[in-house]
Amino acid sequence: MALRVVQWATGGVGTAAIKGVLEHPDLDLVGCWVHSAAKNGRDVGELIGGDPIGVIATSSAEEILALDADAVIYAPLLPDPDEVAALLRSGKNVVTPVGWIYPGEKQAAPMREAGLAGNATLHGTGIAPGGISEKFPILFSAMSTGVTFVRAEEFSDLRTYDAPDVVRHVMGFGETPDKALSGPMQKLLDNGFIQAVKMCVDAFGFAADPTITARQEIAVATAPIESPIGTIEPGQVAGRKFHWEALVGGEVVVRVTVNWLMGEENLDPHWDFGPEGQRYEMQVRGNPDFTVVITGFQGEVGEQGPEPGVVATAAHCVNSIPAVCAAPPGVATYLDLPLFGAKAAPGLQRG
Ligand SMILES: NC(=O)c1ccc[n+]([C@@H]2O[C@H](COP(=O)([O-])OP(=O)(O)OC[C@H]3O[C@@H](n4cnc5c(N)ncnc54)[C@H](OP(=O)(O)O)[C@@H]3O)[C@@H](O)[C@H]2O)c1
Repeated sequence: MALRVVQWATGGVGTAAIKGVLEHPDLDLVGCWVHSAAKNGRDVGELIGGDPIGVIATSSAEEILALDADAVIYAPLLPDPDEVAALLRSGKNVVTPVGWIYPGEKQAAPMREAGLAGNATLHGTGIAPGGISEKFPILFSAMSTGVTFVRAEEFSDLRTYDAPDVVRHVMGFGETPDKALSGPMQKLLDNGFIQAVKMCVDAFGFAADPTITARQEIAVATAPIESPIGTIEPGQVAGRKFHWEALVGGEVVVRVTVNWLMGEENLDPHWDFGPEGQRYEMQVRGNPDFTVVITGFQGEVGEQGPEPGVVATAAHCVNSIPAVCAAPPGVATYLDLPLFGAKAAPGLQRG
């Protein structure tokens, strides 16, 4: 029996998740919630640019809550904890890229309570925070012992990110350094990335200070830089780095870093990606030391189609569904779920 899945919101992640569910041999798409009035009442197959599939999108949360479904992929712009709790109480497992990857007790408690009431499980996942910043470093570290330091780092060219309002007003690119530094980005990122560092601290068993330090750096343009938000003028923000660190006795033992650059030219300080280019990198110092580099999750400037990292985020949600549905009710993190991967493409699947 295939698991019955609902997609909640059809942005970049939601659209890729629908395609992933339709290709997955153990999942059936049975419903879809949309925010946009223009999408309400439309066939979901058409919404993702394909043929009709007989599943009609709705903007009514009540209709979704009343549906007989096993799981919801919850991918709206911003999380609404009450909405997630209602889905859990209605008996639907929830997988989501918008939080709860390794929630503290205050965030976990109401979700656990709702999950127990509905016999359902909540699982937060994603690419970063998510796979790159905590799950994979922990997984790969099984090939080492005596770990002294763990690092997960993103190197991305933000010129491929086609969300001009977010890039300017939320991420602070094209603004003055003062405005960017006092903007919402640090706080927005802190919640997820501090959870990522804490999961590593707990999984490795580091005797780390309970406070995770967060710091950021800014680069400004030294000459006009063409970008999706228009020309970034000299003196305006064109590069940002965010770091989250756990310390033992003043020494960093876990570090997660994000490097977001508007290209690699005309920046002060002169930041670049080095010869390896855009990538995600994970390093473990132990016996032995090793580094894992992942390419392919970042699109190239000018490339058409969805951002691969967004598709990967959706895939991580989709592929987790069978394990999340089988997990005990409450909140399940990467540390609770068994190993799972993707399924073969249609046409290569066992009958
Ligand atoms: N952890 C990770 O690694 C990771 C990676 C990527 C994304 N994310 C997160 O996943 C979420 C979805 O990302 P995305 O790239 O799909 O974003 P997106 O393309 O901007 O889509 C978000 C969707 O949310 C719906 N929406 C818009 N305004 C809304 C509102 N006011 N209230 C509720 N829903 C609204 C819309 O759905 P309809 O179009 O259906 O109306 C929209 O398409 C974001 O929160 C993002 O930060 C996490």
